Amino acid sequence: MSVLIKGGTVVTADHTFKSDVYCEDGKIVAIGENLDVPASAEVVNADGQYVMPGGIDPHTHMQFPFMGTVASDDFYTGTAAALAGGTTSIIDFVIPQPGQRLMDAYHQWQKWAEKAATDFTFHVAITWWDESVHDDMETLVREHGVNSFKHFMAYKNAIMADDETLVNSFRRCVELGAMPTVHAENGELVYQLQQEMLKKGITGPEAQPLSRPPFVEGEAANRAIQVAQAMHTPLYIVHVSCKDSLDAIARARAEGQRVYGEVLAGHLAIDDSVYRSEDFDFAAGHVMSPPFRPKEHQDALWRGLQGGNLHTTATDHCCFCKDQKAAGRDDFTKIPNGTAGVEDRLAILWDEGVNKGRLTLNEFVAVTSTNTAKLFNIYPQKGSITEGADADIVVWDPQGTRTISADSHHMNVDFNIFEGRTVTGIPSHTLSHGKIVWRNGQLNAERGAGRYIKRPPFSPVVEAVARQTELNEPQAVKR
Ligand code: URP
Ligand code: ZN
Ligand code: ZN
Ligand code: ZN
Repeated sequence: MSVLIKGGTVVTADHTFKSDVYCEDGKIVAIGENLDVPASAEVVNADGQYVMPGGIDPHTHMQFPFMGTVASDDFYTGTAAALAGGTTSIIDFVIPQPGQRLMDAYHQWQKWAEKAATDFTFHVAITWWDESVHDDMETLVREHGVNSFKHFMAYKNAIMADDETLVNSFRRCVELGAMPTVHAENGELVYQLQQEMLKKGITGPEAQPLSRPPFVEGEAANRAIQVAQAMHTPLYIVHVSCKDSLDAIARARAEGQRVYGEVLAGHLAIDDSVYRSEDFDFAAGHVMSPPFRPKEHQDALWRGLQGGNLHTTATDHCCFCKDQKAAGRDDFTKIPNGTAGVEDRLAILWDEGVNKGRLTLNEFVAVTSTNTAKLFNIYPQKGSITEGADADIVVWDPQGTRTISADSHHMNVDFNIFEGRTVTGIPSHTLSHGKIVWRNGQLNAERGAGRYIKRPPFSPVVEAVARQTELNEPQAVKR
């Protein structure tokens, strides 16, 4: 199986150059012009197009059992849709119930993911603490290639991690060389504000942003950053949605702290007016946490990406159909939280970012794949166009257009938060392990073709922070 991508312009996170790319047996084996390739190689004509690393979505929840239901995209349908949009790897989440052994949850998620069509890997959530959690974290890192652990600071009475759990887990991450990550929202405040809204009789989706205002996110981001500082660990904050948490990251980074921010395509493109719609299905279709924000926050998020205080883009792909969202018709706290997007992220980032001069081509690649690959230590196997890398490639047609709609998307959900937007810039071809799985609108995803990606601990950043800590160990005074 070999493919020659001919006549395109290769774009990586650090340069742009005209070149052909030859893939064989799942790997990129040659980059250059006039390559000597077998006559049997399939040729993809990339004239006038960009050849970039396939997208890596660092935040998805396929078939996630959550809030009394299960996310409607499973590991096959969701990853197939990803390929249609140019994304070739996902990082999903293993989320144990409090009290559940991490290893049991991990094996459960591995089983579910066997049908994935893209490569996949897992952050593992720390939702409770005891000695078994401490031990299972080590097993996950050393034997299963997990190098990041997630902490939900929201979802009180469910999967929320309190400060004691954060401290215990961050400390353990440092010992193991893993990266802690957080969903930053103050779960107690969210809970109290939700009760307040219900008491006032505000029971519809408009209560979602009212119960989760930006300061709730800012508080948790600041707290997680201070805990990370105390524990001497880098920190990755998922779905940064507002100025308040972005400012927290900017402040910490200005002080030299290694804090990284992820932003969702949705939060960059959609504002909170959606919750005022009188159409319940439409408003509820946008219910997620953190919620969509007033317009000025979107502008701040774009500046965050441009200025280097936000590093990765994701979707938090977690879809629920209208009949699932309807569980919260009379009580917004029962609307399953989450929105879809794994298929649309690259096109939205291109159309809103590159086409509007907010991102360079190279920055586009950095924030859609390379930075994630580096932070989670799978670079340059993923997130790069280099000889020896996995042949996970998107051929991008900057002139192609698509009108996004639930009627035509590949995701298994009857709603699309980007409904009706016409984007310019779409994938013409997607290659996964050197196989053409998306070709001019034809999807050839293969159930179960995705492989589990093992991620070694002690990424360069984790290693550097550990070294600094060691050199700055406090010393007792000898008397
Ligand atoms: O609303 C969301 N984001 N649902 C998925 C779980 C999470 O918080 O990431
Ligand atoms: Zn132990
Ligand atoms: Zn979250
Ligand atoms: Zn999430």
